[in-house]
Amino acid sequence: MGSSTVVSYVSSVSSTVVEVVDYRLGSSGAEQERLLAQCELLRPAAAALLDTIPLPPNAKALDVGCGPLGVLDLLSERVGPGGSVTGLDTDHRMIGWARESVAERALDNVEVRHEALPPVTAAEALYDLVHCRLLLINTTHPRQILGSMAAAVRPGGWVAVQEFDWATWQCDPPHPAWSRLKALLTEVFGGDVHIGARLPGLLSEAGLTDVRATAHAYYWRPGDRYQTLLLSFAHLFRDRLLEHTPLTSGELDSLTGALRDHLEQPRTTVRESLLVQAWARKP
Ligand SMILES: C[S@@+](CC[C@H](N)C(=O)[O-])C[C@H]1O[C@@H](n2cnc3c(N)ncnc32)[C@H](O)[C@@H]1O
Repeated sequence: MGSSTVVSYVSSVSSTVVEVVDYRLGSSGAEQERLLAQCELLRPAAAALLDTIPLPPNAKALDVGCGPLGVLDLLSERVGPGGSVTGLDTDHRMIGWARESVAERALDNVEVRHEALPPVTAAEALYDLVHCRLLLINTTHPRQILGSMAAAVRPGGWVAVQEFDWATWQCDPPHPAWSRLKALLTEVFGGDVHIGARLPGLLSEAGLTDVRATAHAYYWRPGDRYQTLLLSFAHLFRDRLLEHTPLTSGELDSLTGALRDHLEQPRTTVRESLLVQAWARKP
C-alpha cells in the first residue's frame, strides 16, 4: 500500500487535536492513475449533478479532497472566467498532481491548496458551492467534515456530495470468495462503505435544507478495469487484512485466486457500488 498522510488541526470546539485524514488508499502513482480514470468514468454523472445546482454569476466553488483532478475542470467551466474554484487536499502528492492537471488544462480560475478544511468555528462562509466526492467514505469523521463544509457555504449556497455505497457491489453469478473478501474489506477499509445511503440524512443533520438525492449504477464484464476492483482492494489492503482479520496469507491467496478465475469467466458480470449524489442548500 502507498503512503498515507495524516494531517491534524486543533478544533476549538472540542479543544482537542483532531486527526482529520488517514487516506488508506495512499498516494502512489497507481492510485493517481486509478483516480484519473475514475474521473473519466464519473464525469457524466458529475456534470449532471453540477448542472442541477443553480450558481450565481462569477460563483466561488470549493472542492474538498480534490485528489489529482476531482471535479476541478467541471467546476471551472461552470463558474466561468469571472468565478473561482479552490481545490483542497491534505496529501501533498495529490496536490502536486492536481496542479499538473490544472496547468495542462489551462484552468486559470482554479487554485489548489495543500490544506484541510478549517473546523466549523474557524470557517468563513465564502462559497456558493462546496463539494466533495469520495472523501467521506474514506474518513472516520464524516459529520465533522460535512459540518465544516456547511460552515464554508454562504447562506443560500449549496453543499454537494458524491459517495459510493458498497451495498449494491455484487458479482453475478454470486461467488463465496466475493462475499468473504468484500465482508473482510468492509471491516478494514477505514470509513463507512455504506455512507452513500446516509448522505441525505447527514446533510439534514448538518443544518442544510432542500435536500435532494439521486444515484448512478455501473455494470462491468471481463476485460473492464472495474471488473476486478475488489481484487485490487484486496491487494492494497493485504497487510491490513492479515493483521486485523482472521485470514492467513494462504487463505487470502486462495480466495483471491478463486475470485480472479470467477471474474474472468465470460458470463460473470459485476454490478459496481452505487454512486449516490446528494445536495442541499444552506438556509
Ligand atoms: C478517493 S480520493 C477522491 C479524489 C477526488 N475527489 C475524486 O473524486 O477523484 C480522496 C481524496 O481526499 C483526500 N483527503 C482525505 N481526507 C481529506 C481531508 N480531510 N481534507 C482534504 N482532503 C482529504 C485524499 O488525500 C484523497 O486525495
